[in-house]
Amino acid sequence: MTLDPSQLNQQRKDDHVNLALEQQKEKQHSSFDDIRFVHHSFSKMAFDQVDVQTVWAQHTHQMPFYINGMTGGSKFTKQFNEKLGQVAAQTGLAIATGSVSAALKDPSLNDSFQIMREVNPNGFVMANLGAHHSLENAKRAVDLLKADALQIHLNVPQEIVMPEGDRDFSNWAENIQAMVENLGVPVIVKEVGFGMSRETIELLISLGVANIDVSGRGGTNFVRIEDDRNNRLDFSALGEWGQTTAESLVEAHAVQDLIERNQVTLLASGGIRQPFDILKALSLGASAVGLSGRFLASVNDIGVDGTVEMVHNWRESLQLMMLMLEAKNIQSLQHKDLILSGNLLDWAQLRQIDADHFANRSQSH
Ligand code: FNR
Repeated sequence: MTLDPSQLNQQRKDDHVNLALEQQKEKQHSSFDDIRFVHHSFSKMAFDQVDVQTVWAQHTHQMPFYINGMTGGSKFTKQFNEKLGQVAAQTGLAIATGSVSAALKDPSLNDSFQIMREVNPNGFVMANLGAHHSLENAKRAVDLLKADALQIHLNVPQEIVMPEGDRDFSNWAENIQAMVENLGVPVIVKEVGFGMSRETIELLISLGVANIDVSGRGGTNFVRIEDDRNNRLDFSALGEWGQTTAESLVEAHAVQDLIERNQVTLLASGGIRQPFDILKALSLGASAVGLSGRFLASVNDIGVDGTVEMVHNWRESLQLMMLMLEAKNIQSLQHKDLILSGNLLDWAQLRQIDADHFANRSQSH
């Protein structure tokens, strides 16, 4: 039986979820394991002094982590969006849909995305779209979800490995600039698990982007997902392509002045496994931390109630670790000394980024 283009697209969305769930079962070395905090024996604080709220995309969020863009566009994936939306509604986590591109072409798919808003009418919801889309499509994406913000994803390696992927990236920068200037809601530009270089971050800032999610390597891997689906060209050698999330945050540090001068908010995602990774990403400079694969597996394995409980536990764990570090809020966490080692340290040194700064920054504060 041959599938028409719409059926093929739905099949692709289902494949993404199933292959991402498979990847969650793997154990891999994490760049976050190359980061340690310096321990001190006093804390001089009490638990109720710890404040984890954070501001990004022009909104104050009570939780320093969020459910990052994943899915929608088929019956199967609608169930995931419903569950993820319920988790967001019950916990106050911000949440994003996957790319709504398919629904802009085929309105019969609208409900597979809109369910996330229906079950979460008052939450912070982000629509998601690729950078090849026009400003007009971006407005339609926001309307579809009554979205509070729009995520624009950058996914060149994924498109390259995908047999049906885009082969023309020449209009991305101008599309992004038009959206930032005219959309009317905050725009977050994100990677999809390949991380960012300081050059990419500089370019995004020059386009006026104020919210950047570096989304690095270490978790869901779209080169491998698309390569598993691609039976003509073999891209298995690109399985380790891209910067890890920690490397991307270190890259961002190299343009810290520019980030501060332009009041840019950094977000981090990619390979976040546990609250300790969130703590490290926040300390490396992120204002909030996104998780995709981990939440997908969680609603799949332990359902909505189990995931809600996990979120509450994670928040408490974060607060407790901040108490141990004597960090009363996220800004203060960003002045704690961090020791980088292994591949992460090699990366920083070869890119001439000052790793010593992280190890001694509390003194200058
Ligand atoms: C994604 N991701 C993604 N990102 C995006 O901007 N638009 C999209 O449509 C999708 N689709 C998608 C589907 C599935 C099933 C997964 C698991 C992920 C990428 C995601 O937002 C994130 O950048 C990466 O997954 C890395 O984070 P994790 O999964 O390692 O936490």
